[in-house]
Amino acid sequence: MAARKSIGILVLVAAAFVLATLYLMQAPPNGPQQNAPPLAPAALQPLERGKYLVLAGNCVSCHTVPGGTPFAGGRAIPTPFGTLYSSNISPDPETGLGKWSAEDFWRALHEGKSRDGSLLYPAFPYTNYTKVTREDSDAMYAYLRSIPPVVQATRPNEMRFPYDKRSLLAGWRALYFKEGIHQDDPKQSAQWNRGAYLVEGLGHCNACHASRNAWGAVKGDEPAAGGLIPMLNWYAPSLASGRETSVGAGEVAEIAGLLRTGVSARHAVFGPMSEVVRDSLQHLTEEDATAMAVYLKSQRADDPKEEESRLSFTPEEKEALDRQGARLYADHCETCHQPTGQGVPRVYPPFVGNQAILMRNPVNAIRITLNGGFPPSTAGNPRPYGMPPFAHRLSDAEVAAVVTYIRGAWGNAASPVSSVEVAGARGVPLE
Ligand code: HEC
Ligand code: HEC
Ligand code: HEC
Repeated sequence: MAARKSIGILVLVAAAFVLATLYLMQAPPNGPQQNAPPLAPAALQPLERGKYLVLAGNCVSCHTVPGGTPFAGGRAIPTPFGTLYSSNISPDPETGLGKWSAEDFWRALHEGKSRDGSLLYPAFPYTNYTKVTREDSDAMYAYLRSIPPVVQATRPNEMRFPYDKRSLLAGWRALYFKEGIHQDDPKQSAQWNRGAYLVEGLGHCNACHASRNAWGAVKGDEPAAGGLIPMLNWYAPSLASGRETSVGAGEVAEIAGLLRTGVSARHAVFGPMSEVVRDSLQHLTEEDATAMAVYLKSQRADDPKEEESRLSFTPEEKEALDRQGARLYADHCETCHQPTGQGVPRVYPPFVGNQAILMRNPVNAIRITLNGGFPPSTAGNPRPYGMPPFAHRLSDAEVAAVVTYIRGAWGNAASPVSSVEVAGARGVPLE
């Protein structure tokens, strides 16, 4: 059992890695869903409903080679245990889902099993999709049958022994997979339940917004904890903490707007979250985004424990660091983020009270300073303003000084950042 468990854990870490890697890659630039107008789910024809749900599940992102035909699969997913290739889910009879029945499709989403009954790697987030109703599964199936078939054999996975043995997944599943459709909580409103259905199910938010140690133990109905996304090395904040995102402080409408447009007065999404908004969340109706926001705001977990500051300075050192940080900020940052750190609402995010930079783990603030970034282009924010990279202009010590400065100025009170942490964030590939 111990051996089985440890293999299970390895597979699971692989799965986490796989998921992270998938999101490292760009989604196709001209996918059919780019900037499509949002659809009203209730009133839609089955095909349109299916399309909407496929967008909500962000299927295209993983099932498309960058620049390739949507849903034709074949995306290489390197893991420390070998390479996985996503499946062709277009309706070609030989290489795609053409011979699959609605029942087969349902079993994949709900049970994580392929048409021949073999077990699927959980990089395909069926641990979330299991919550989807049969009706919604059938609508997605109908839509995926309606798109043009593409002849493209799914490349066999190149997982190393023993991870190439799908039968090992039985152990993983026994420990970590609980099959079951979302059940409405009668104590909550219809709106809350709709939000829970989308966040825990199709949205697979806790695939990233979960603590890595608890990865295997993540249950869809637990408030999402924060955690470093393995290998990708972005920190996905706790969605249930008032201190790691703007969800705690923001109004429902602000959060719904952030999900659909990628920006709010308090924050601009970046890194993997920018892609989630671009490929999926921006296509949701206002009603659905609002339901998700209502559900997210109701989640409460303990705030992550404050850490003792990892660095200690003499008063002289601290003063020198502050001076250096303030100078760098004035030279490189304040034209956009403003001398007061207030930013420009919905254009340049503020730093004052911005949880995205104040959270305990400074990796995101470091990485965006090194790499720059763009919020996604969305209907609500079609031409987002970007931030230039500073990796080549600032040394590790300078990045550490300026990030320390923005975490500590204007009443902010987050811990300082060391140049070692900056050096560690440099080698990580860009998304
Ligand atoms: C995070 C990445 C990811 C997302 C999102 C994703 N998939 Fe997949 N999917 C995969 C991978 C990887 C596989 C192959 C797994 C394996 O080889 O065991 C797969 C396999 C499948 C299969 C099984 C194909 C077969 O031949 O056995 C189906 C069906 C499928 N996905 C449908 C979907 C649908 C529908 C959605 C959206 C609701 C979706 N996927 C979203 C990564 C993803
Ligand atoms: C591929 C990984 C990934 C997935 C999937 C994902 N997120 Fe995120 N999310 C992140 C990362 C990384 C951040 C930190 C970057 C940022 O703040 O924009 C983040 C940030 C956020 C924030 C914080 C914004 C703030 O106010 O500070 C919210 C809200 C959020 N995600 C909601 C969601 C919801 C809802 C879903 C599911 C529909 C989801 N995320 C799915 C990776 C992910
Ligand atoms: C040209 C304008 C511009 C300059 C100069 C600039 N930024 Fe930014 N910054 C932005 C924009 C736009 C975003 C949102 C990027 C995104 O969402 O991908 C951003 C986001 C950030 C964030 C994440 C905050 C959040 O809520 O999204 C941090 C941290 C940050 N900048 C730090 C800095 C630092 C440090 C400097 C100076 C070394 C700097 N920026 C210089 C425009 C700028």
